[in-house]
Amino acid sequence: MSEEADTRLLVTGGAGFIGSNFVRHVMGATSHDVTILDKLTYAGRIDTVSDLLGPRVRFVLGDIGDAALVSPLVAESDAVVHFAAESHNDRALHDPRPFVETNVVGTFTLLEAVRAHGARLHHVSTDEVFGDLAYDDTARFDERTAPDPSSPYAASKAASDLLVKAWVRSFDIRATISNCSNNYGPYQSVEKFIPRQITNVLRGRRPQLYGSGRNVRDWMHVDDHSSAVLAILENGTIGETYLVGADGERSNRRVVELILELTGQPSDAYDLVADRPGHDRRYAIDATKLRDELGWRPRHRDFATGLGQVIDWYRANEAWWAADKDRVERYYAATER
Ligand code: NAD
Ligand code: DAU
Repeated sequence: MSEEADTRLLVTGGAGFIGSNFVRHVMGATSHDVTILDKLTYAGRIDTVSDLLGPRVRFVLGDIGDAALVSPLVAESDAVVHFAAESHNDRALHDPRPFVETNVVGTFTLLEAVRAHGARLHHVSTDEVFGDLAYDDTARFDERTAPDPSSPYAASKAASDLLVKAWVRSFDIRATISNCSNNYGPYQSVEKFIPRQITNVLRGRRPQLYGSGRNVRDWMHVDDHSSAVLAILENGTIGETYLVGADGERSNRRVVELILELTGQPSDAYDLVADRPGHDRRYAIDATKLRDELGWRPRHRDFATGLGQVIDWYRANEAWWAADKDRVERYYAATER
């Protein structure tokens, strides 16, 4: 993709957690202009990006599944960076339909616009498309791992990845795909594990661990995901998939203990609650291809330091999450297993 000053990116889902952090990263690291296309579902918030809006960043309210809206936006853009998705596993277990509509049909709609107008596309996906790994295994996911999703969310993302691959092969669109591990950082919805437990502690509630707390996720800072996506967009090989991870495997129990330690609470002050149905055991990424081919390196190497900074961010930004917290906890209570 061109690195010229007048490059315009269309960033779908740019008012969500990772999309908004990506737009912030692009503002600092490039001279590109950005159009954010976001439906502002329960997960998207205009106040997450309102400070960015101005000469370089424009906001368009709308659905990636709306072909009449999407087509001219893609036509005027040099590249599309596709983050928009329904992203939360617990919600998919209760109501999978929006996951198929946005993640599958929405991605299809975007692909047709990309095909018609010849824009470059980067599709942002997840390591969950590969299913899970055993606890007592040293294996990690890499670019040769076959899709084997366990959950409705993961299946919808795997379907979107396969659509992108088919459009590259059949229609010669210029697309790349990344499959990233779990992100943490500012502006993440309090429905997700780390912000939910941080805000529980800040509200005087006990963290809630599903099952035994043994499940392992491969955590990386959202800024490192942003730099990886930009590296792939600018220097990745068309048609290729890159796995993104930063060697951050930790059990959920260890993450909660760390949150409790960093907030001055006893490290066993959490509750074990009913497990998530079909709960994937372990994710782990081998990002050798991204490192070797594109020279990408994560900047945030120390998880405890990064987590401490995120705790400080939630402490300082209660106005951003307070209303969502009540809604999210009502949702969890209403859907209790
Ligand atoms: P998020 O739920 O915080 O944000 C999703 C954004 O997409 C929201 O702003 C929402 O309003 C918007 N959106 C949803 N449906 C839309 C539609 N039909 N049209 C337009 N906009 C729509 O999600 P996130 O955690 O920022 O994840 C972003 C992307 O990264 C997703 O594709 C997800 O699969 C992927 N991913 C996430 C993680 C993670 O740890 N959170 C890890 C790897 C990959
Ligand atoms: O791996 C990448 C994926 O990471 C992304 O594709 C998803 O969009 C993102 O939501 C995330 O999926 P997870 O299901 O791993 O994330 P979540 O934050 O929901 O949960 C992380 C782990 O914590 C998981 O093992 C379930 C557990 N958990 C979650 C919640 C909300 C708890 O133990 N307690 C909780 O209250």
